[in-house]
Amino acid sequence: MTDETRKLLAETTALKKAAGEAAASVADEKELERWRVKFLGRKSALSRLSKSLSSLPEAEKPAAGRALNELRAELEGRYGRIQRQFAEKKAEAGKGRIDYTLPGITPAIGSLHPITKTYYEIAAFFTALGFSIADGPEVEDEFHNFGALNFPPDHPSRDAQDTLYINDEWLLRTHTSPVQVRVMLSQEPPLRVIVPGRCYRADAVDASHYPVFHQVEGLLVDDNVSLGDLKGTLAAFAEYVFGPGTKMRFRPHFFPFTEPSAEVDVSCAVCDGVGCPTCGGKGWLEIAGAGMVHPSVFRNVGYDPERWVGYAFGMGVERIAMLKYGVNDIRLFYENDFAFLQQF
Ligand code: DAH
Repeated sequence: MTDETRKLLAETTALKKAAGEAAASVADEKELERWRVKFLGRKSALSRLSKSLSSLPEAEKPAAGRALNELRAELEGRYGRIQRQFAEKKAEAGKGRIDYTLPGITPAIGSLHPITKTYYEIAAFFTALGFSIADGPEVEDEFHNFGALNFPPDHPSRDAQDTLYINDEWLLRTHTSPVQVRVMLSQEPPLRVIVPGRCYRADAVDASHYPVFHQVEGLLVDDNVSLGDLKGTLAAFAEYVFGPGTKMRFRPHFFPFTEPSAEVDVSCAVCDGVGCPTCGGKGWLEIAGAGMVHPSVFRNVGYDPERWVGYAFGMGVERIAMLKYGVNDIRLFYENDFAFLQQF
């Protein structure tokens, strides 16, 4: 073995001892860093010895190289251990201590769904007029959904093309009107109720149709009610929901359970009734169906049509929400898109 190699090995052993002794007295992270620079840094003895390796005779290189590698591994391991010890000590010292100056975590409190919000607004208007709130089942029978409402047995909307049947007898209600029947079968007039609820139809999905949607039904039965009362109430409602100056109109229509019947339009808020893409150039947008309760319906629930008179309406909640908030696609209400929902 050459003197040079012997010297290198001796220095390696000495370095190991010196580094170990120095590490034992490292007391904090600053001292640890100084230790690292001294024993593992670019200008350290270890680095110098590693460079000198190339000048050794070929035969003695492997043993010298191994000794240097072992030393480096040992020093790096020691460095890592001491570093972990300090980190643990720090975590331990921080336990149970609270920094009151840190900003708090703001909880995500969520918000109401636009359909819920719109329903609450509709309900606020009618409850202020003395209407109470009723509800009924989403799974209905043909009697409540159709028969009692004076739909003839062969009426097209009874068809499985339009209505989602569970079996021969039960179906998913196609409107909230069956709750009119349930209310009248269980209460005596005079009465005034609104009925919020989910409805179902076998509709193909597009920008304005969805197989699930929401309606708010209204029913008022008393002994001195006119079509004028109905129209005045809905005109006030239109201004309440869409803002002062909103006009409404009745467009003659047919429903089996009302006579006369109308569809209810409001003036388009986008173009002020002039005509634009939103209202299809008409200046008006349909929001509800309405009319005076048909005498046959009264008879079906055991009310005397000579004694009582009433009005009813059924409005589309999605429709109203879309107009109110400028939503142009009904599907947005059901996709749970956070970016959409956060706007309400
Ligand atoms: N049920 C009707 C529909 O879904 C809406 C309706 C029209 C409800 C007239 C009523 C009414 O109460 O009087 O198309």
